[in-house]
This record gives sequence, structure tokens and C-alpha cells, in this order.
Amino acid sequence: MAKSKEFMKQFSLQGKTILVTGASSGIGRQVAISVAEAGALLYITGRNPERLEECFHSLPGKGHHFHQADLVDETAINALVDELDNLDGVVFSAGITTHTPTKFIREKDYSKIFEINYRAPVLLSARLLKKKKINDGASFVFMSSIASEKAYFAGALYSSTKSAIEAFSRTLALELSPKKIRSNCLQPTFVKTPMIEGAGETISQDVLKRFEETSPLGFGEPDDVANAAIFLLSDASKWITGINIPMGGF
Ligand SMILES: NC(=O)c1ccc[n+]([C@@H]2O[C@H](COP(=O)([O-])OP(=O)(O)OC[C@H]3O[C@@H](n4cnc5c(N)ncnc54)[C@H](OP(=O)(O)O)[C@@H]3O)[C@@H](O)[C@H]2O)c1
Repeated sequence: MAKSKEFMKQFSLQGKTILVTGASSGIGRQVAISVAEAGALLYITGRNPERLEECFHSLPGKGHHFHQADLVDETAINALVDELDNLDGVVFSAGITTHTPTKFIREKDYSKIFEINYRAPVLLSARLLKKKKINDGASFVFMSSIASEKAYFAGALYSSTKSAIEAFSRTLALELSPKKIRSNCLQPTFVKTPMIEGAGETISQDVLKRFEETSPLGFGEPDDVANAAIFLLSDASKWITGINIPMGGF
């Protein structure tokens, strides 16, 4: 019994302080709740104040913090970082999607998605490191997507943002390895969140149904992704860095 307790300790987040972006919805919300259930102290951030507060009140345990911020604004990123204590992990879940066939891409579409899916996590990581807010042995978890590896119709912009963040994460893993700070990406296929419900406006229900039928394990739930995030944040994964973990099948 005592041995099993010791074994489970590696998977616990007790004593760790974790920042989760995109905590006002979907995957980020569930990651925040599950990470708090695993024992961590949370800083959560999101754009919509009501939904962010709802997530905050759903967090088990005491002493958590929430901070509303639009992460496309660098001043807002800097203000967020100034408020934080030192962190043992960050889950970057804030992001958007778009379904735009290449011939319809305009400069503003390109800027809009790269600003939040790529520029925001890059600037936030840089600021956290510059301000020495990241403890040795900490873990960065980026929410990429299997879209970075699998092409799909009208997915050029979204897929490109995810490929870019994977390249960033790999470099971070290399640069931070002397301090045993790790950086990895999760690559879910479709997960049932407001993002996918919203996709119904630009992808037909038939196409979504076909995606679900051809996904080996069907569409995922937010807690499927949250469980993988817990593993990557925990000491159980302390020898894993610079990789992408596909989720939901191939
Ligand atoms: N759902 C999927 O099938 C799926 C699959 C693979 C990867 N992913 C990735 O997983 C992540 C989360 O997706 P989700 O499905 O949970 O989507 P979601 O339910 O739409 O949540 C997106 C989150 O990002 C936040 N966000 C968007 N723009 C922001 C901005 N400018 N500043 C700050 N926060 C911003 C949203 O905040 P507000 O709601 O407060 O505006 C929300 O909390 C994304 O990076 C997505 O690309 C999703």
C-alpha cells in the first residue's frame, strides 16, 4: 500500500503552481479543473470574464487566481506575467480555428489566427522566462493539433499555426534542458468543445460526421486531453521533452 502511494506521487501535481490559458472554455477549462483536482495551485486566464469566473468557481481547492486578458495584446501579456508567482508548468490552450480555402485567404485572416495561436504563446513564454517566473524542472504544454501533420480541406492557416508552435516548442525544449525545464505538445484530433460546435457554421454536419466515423477512437472529450496534460506536467514525465503526442488515433 505504502509503495503504491509513493508510485502515485509521481503523477500528482501537489505543490506545483500551474498557469492555464484558454481556461474560459473547452479544453483549457477542463485542464484547469483536472489540474486542480490533481493538487496544483492554479492561475487561470481567458478573455470572457463571465466564463473565466465560472471556471474559477469550479476549481476544487483554495488559493487559485484568475486574470482576464486578451492575449493578442502584448501589454496584457506583460501585466499577466507581473501578477504571477513562480510557476512549475504552463498549459497554453488559448486558440482559435478557421476554415478558409487557400484562394480566399486575406492578410487579416492570416494575422488573426497567427496572433493568438502562435504569437501569443511565444511572447508569453518569452516574458515568463525573461522575468524568471519559471522554476527549474517546470513543464510547458502547448495545445497543438493533429492538423499539423494531417492536411484537411481549408485547413492551411490553422495547420500552419500548429506546425509553427511545434517548432517553437522543440526549440524551447533544447534551450531549457540545462534547467530540466521541458516543453511538449499535445496533438488532439477532434474534441467536443465550443470550438467544434462553432465549426458547424463553416463545415457541414455531414463532413463532421465523416471525420468522427474515420477517427479511430471517435471524437474526444476535454478530460481526455486534460489527463494527458496532467501527465506532461507531472514528474512522471520528467524524461520527456521536445515531442508531440498525437491523441485520438492516427
Ligand atoms: N476542439 C478540438 O477539436 C481541438 C483539437 C485539437 C486542438 N485544439 C486546440 O485546443 C485549444 C483549445 O481549443 P477548444 O476546443 O477548447 O476551443 P474553445 O472552447 O473555443 O476555447 C478556446 C479558448 O481560447 C481562448 N482565446 C481565444 N482567443 C483568445 C485571445 N485573443 N486571448 C485570450 N484567450 C483567447 C478563449 O477565450 P474566450 O472564450 O474567453 O474568448 C477560450 O478560452 C486550441 O488551441 C485549439 O486549437 C482543439
